[in-house]
Amino acid sequence: MMGYDMSGPTPRFLQIFFEVFETLPRQGPGNRACAAKAFAFCRDLPPSPVVIDLGCGVGGQTLHLAELTTGTIIAVDSHAPSIERLRATVAEHGLSQRVSPVVGDLSNLEQPPESFDLVWSEGALYNIGIESALGVCRRLLRPGGYLAFTDAVWRKKNPPPEVKAIFEDDYPTMGRVPDLLTAIGRCGFSLIGHFTMPDETWWDDFYTPMQRRIEELRGSYADDDEALAVLDQLAQEPEMHERYSDYYAYEFFVTRRVE
Ligand SMILES: C[S@@+](CC[C@H](N)C(=O)[O-])C[C@H]1O[C@@H](n2cnc3c(N)ncnc32)[C@H](O)[C@@H]1O
Repeated sequence: MMGYDMSGPTPRFLQIFFEVFETLPRQGPGNRACAAKAFAFCRDLPPSPVVIDLGCGVGGQTLHLAELTTGTIIAVDSHAPSIERLRATVAEHGLSQRVSPVVGDLSNLEQPPESFDLVWSEGALYNIGIESALGVCRRLLRPGGYLAFTDAVWRKKNPPPEVKAIFEDDYPTMGRVPDLLTAIGRCGFSLIGHFTMPDETWWDDFYTPMQRRIEELRGSYADDDEALAVLDQLAQEPEMHERYSDYYAYEFFVTRRVE
């Protein structure tokens, strides 16, 4: 989700926004190949790790984590309807014994310190500021535990103003990979590996279904000018990405809590 100031939009904008986003397989860039590649960096996990997925959305990566491990997973998101959806999916897949979706805020989590072997977070840590999020993750992890997360990064210095404007509301402090590496070290983690996620991670489970959903809702709201205007606004995000994706990307970082 980029370019939307969640404290400012009208109730109608938010209603349509969630009608689009909640139905998508993912609420941000990501795919199974990247998650599997990142998970493979976590070589010393116990056989059944205790995992927490922060900012899980409707759980695209949560269900994949349940395939990649035989451990238990707590999946946290502040948006209650996404957690409701994930609860239903988890029950459908017969995973309720191992996967617990809970509503929670990254900056105010109730889980006890040092209780996880792996913290996973795709596209969510930036919401509370990357360094304070790294502090939260460090507190949750046992010493030697892994943190795997994705974050948006600039690929080029000095992007043109129209590209910077895309992220102005949502992620004004977005940095480059070296900035993230510095933050990782400063916050008590050692880097295991990192890689840039390929462009299809923006499309296959995110922008392509988003465009399909927007078209579907344009049909449902054919007589509703206000709704159509919001849909037009939402449709700009994939269009902007088509034009400007050379300037930014999502990066996967796999790190380990230093003792
Ligand atoms: C870009 S989406 C990524 C969702 C999911 N990880 C994925 O990749 O499909 C970011 C998610 O973070 C959640 N979020 C935002 N701020 C949060 C906070 N302070 N605490 C918990 N979740 C938060 C949003 O509700 C949203 O589901």
